[in-house]
This record gives sequence, structure tokens and C-alpha cells, in this order.
Amino acid sequence: MNGNTGNRSTFHLDRRDFLVASAVGAATIAMGGLPGMAHGAGPLALPPLPYEENALAPVISSNTIGFHYGKHHKGYVDNLNKLIAGTEYADLPLEKIIVAVAGKADKAAIFNNAAQVWNHTFFWQSLRANGGGEPPASLKQKIDADFGSLEACKKELTGAATSQFGSGWAWLVLDGGKLKTMKTANAETPLTAGVKPLLTIDVWEHAYYLDYQNRRADYVSALIDKLINWEAVLKNLG
Ligand SMILES: [Fe+2]
Repeated sequence: MNGNTGNRSTFHLDRRDFLVASAVGAATIAMGGLPGMAHGAGPLALPPLPYEENALAPVISSNTIGFHYGKHHKGYVDNLNKLIAGTEYADLPLEKIIVAVAGKADKAAIFNNAAQVWNHTFFWQSLRANGGGEPPASLKQKIDADFGSLEACKKELTGAATSQFGSGWAWLVLDGGKLKTMKTANAETPLTAGVKPLLTIDVWEHAYYLDYQNRRADYVSALIDKLINWEAVLKNLG
């Protein structure tokens, strides 16, 4: 009996590791188009924004993007480069650094900065000017099948984004072939949970405070209706 339990446990771990590897692999491919994500020798670069700093206005002002991308996102890149210089992580791809240090208390600073670099790059990709609206037909079909309707999907995503207590992220992910929403605290990322990230919404106060002050719900609602890049979600779905 013990042997069986042990086998099941081993299988479970193997399967989880496989799922994490699959999610990381898919995410690496999804992010492959962005310079700076494929980290070779030398310091990590801040990936370029996929649009101009004023492209998302008035939903997200160029002032907010200037601070959010130019100070916060850049800050995580700079911190991470300092933390990994001369270590075994220095030349690893970003996704591998995240998975390697996840859950290790003595590597929390590396995890937090690495995950924040990845989450932000993924966030910028999740948005576009004149976004929102109807997803492409094949994605809409999948959303209808898994959530019942686009409205139900948006409602769940809104719920995840507004109910995350304190800093964090709301996500649309693929979990076992099914679309789901989830939320993560601080720098936590679905990359370490064995699910494939498809879309994220940054709900740290720095993402909206200059434009919306404490009205997170207004920021989330405007972002979902006007900025979601459904084409990027479809691409990430693969
Ligand atoms: Fe942020």
C-alpha cells in the first residue's frame, strides 16, 4: 500500500513538473517575439513597450505608463540584474530563473524581481489601443464553452481583479485544457502553478493610482472593455 502511495506521489510530482515545464515552454514561445525575454549571456534588457506610451490613453494615461514602464518595470529589471550578477542564474532565461527560485525563502528577492519583470512584459502584451470588444471567433467559441458567455468571462475576470486584496494580478489561464480566471498576490505568477497564462491585469496601485486614485474597479472595468488584446490571448492559447 505504501508503495502504491509512493508511486502516486511520484507520478503527481512528475506530472506537476511536466505541467510547469509545459506552461513555461508555452510562455517562452508566447513571449519569444519580445527582445530581452530570450536571455543569453549578459544582463537582461527591459523589453520595449509594444506601443507608444500614449497609445492606451485615456484609459491608461501616458503619465501612468511613463512611471509604470519606465520606473517600475525598469526597476525590476535593474534589481534582478544586480541580484543575479555572478550567480548560477546570471545566464538563464527569465522563465527558468522564476521556476528555479520559486518557493525558496532565501531567493525571494530574485523571485519577486524576476516574476515582476515577466508579469509586466506579459501585461503590456495583454493590452492594445482600441482593444476590448469581441474576441476572434475561435476564441469566442472557447470562451462560450468554458464560461457560458463573454459577459460571464469578463465578470469572473473583474471579480478576480477587484477581489485581490492588496497588490497582485488577475489572470485568464488555460488549466487542463479549460479557460479559467485566477488571481495572484504580489509578484506571484501562474508560471509556477502548472497553468498557461493567457492574459493578465496588473492591480498593483502603481498601475492605476495616478489616473483612478483608489477606484480600482473603474480601472479594471475600463481596461477590460477598451484595452484587452484578445488577439494576443488567442495567440497565447496556441
Ligand atoms: Fe505593475
